[in-house]
Amino acid sequence: MNHFLDINSLTIDDARHLIARALQFKQNGTYPCYDHYTVAHLFYENSTRTRVSFEMAAQRLRMPVVNLDVAHSSEQKGEVLTDTVATLVAMGVSIIVIRHSQEGIVSLLANRFQHQNTVHFVNAGDGQRAHPSQAMLDMMTILEHKADVSPLKIALLGDIRHSRVAHSWQYLAARFNVGELVMIAPKPWQPVNTYYGFVTDSLEDGLKEADVIITLRVQRERLLAEEELDMSFYKQHYTLTEERLSYAKKDAIIMHPGPMNRGIDIDSVVADGPQSVILQQVSNGLFMRMAILEAVLQ
Ligand code: NCD
Repeated sequence: MNHFLDINSLTIDDARHLIARALQFKQNGTYPCYDHYTVAHLFYENSTRTRVSFEMAAQRLRMPVVNLDVAHSSEQKGEVLTDTVATLVAMGVSIIVIRHSQEGIVSLLANRFQHQNTVHFVNAGDGQRAHPSQAMLDMMTILEHKADVSPLKIALLGDIRHSRVAHSWQYLAARFNVGELVMIAPKPWQPVNTYYGFVTDSLEDGLKEADVIITLRVQRERLLAEEELDMSFYKQHYTLTEERLSYAKKDAIIMHPGPMNRGIDIDSVVADGPQSVILQQVSNGLFMRMAILEAVLQ
C-alpha cells in the first residue's frame, strides 16, 4: 500500500491487515524501529486527537517527526502547497500526513508526485469527503467487542451530510459487508448521495435493535444558511440520551470520533457511561496509525 488515501483504495485484505497489525501493536507493546524514515505533518485544519495520535504513532516507531506550523509557513508568503511538498520531498521526507479543507487534495498530491516513489501520502481528513484513519480505528474498536460485523446493525447519528467520518464509513461498511448501516439525521443534515446503507429522520426507527451507535459532531462551522437548525429542536429529537439509548440492543456500544459537543451530540451520562467506548477509540487510534505508517512503507 503505497499511500493511505481513502477507504475506496483499500482492499478488504489491506483493511484486515491494518486491523490485525494494530491489534498486534496493542498487545505486544514492542515496536519495530523505522528511524531512517522522516514523517512530516501538514495540518491545515484544526485537530487535536488526530494530530497527536499520528505524532505519537510515528514516535513509537522511532520515526523522526517534522510538524509544519502551517500558519507561519511559506504558504503565508504565497507559496503553493505543491511547492511546500516538493521542498519536503527534496529534503528526503518519506511520509507526508495531510489534513486539508480541499477535498481530494491528498490523492492529487499522490498523483502529482508519483514519479517520486520514495514519498508516501497519508490522508488525515480532507474537507467533508474522507477520514479513512478514523473509520479504520472505529472498525478496529467494534471488532474488539463484536466477533463479526456482517450480522450487525450500525447506526450513525447526527450531522451526516457534513461528516467526512460518515462518508468514509459508508465505504467501509460496504467493504466489510456490514449487515445494516443506518444514518439518522434531520432532513437538512442527511447525506446528498448515499453509497451504502439507508437514511432516516426517525431516531427511534434508526436506533431500534442497533448493535453499535456512532454519534457525530454537529459541524456548525460547515453549515450553509439553509442547513441551519434550531439547536433546541435537535436536542429534543436527536441528542443521544440515556432514555433514547434503550431503543438499541442492551449490549450496544456507543462511539464518537470526537471532539464531542456534550449535551448536543450526546449526553454526558451516555458518553461517560458503561456502554461508551469513546476513549478506547482514542487509544486504538494510536495503534491504527502505527499500522498505517508502517504499511505505506511496504
Ligand atoms: C473528526 C474530524 O475532524 O473529521 N474528528 C476527528 O478527527 N477525530 C470529526 C469532527 O470534526 O467532528
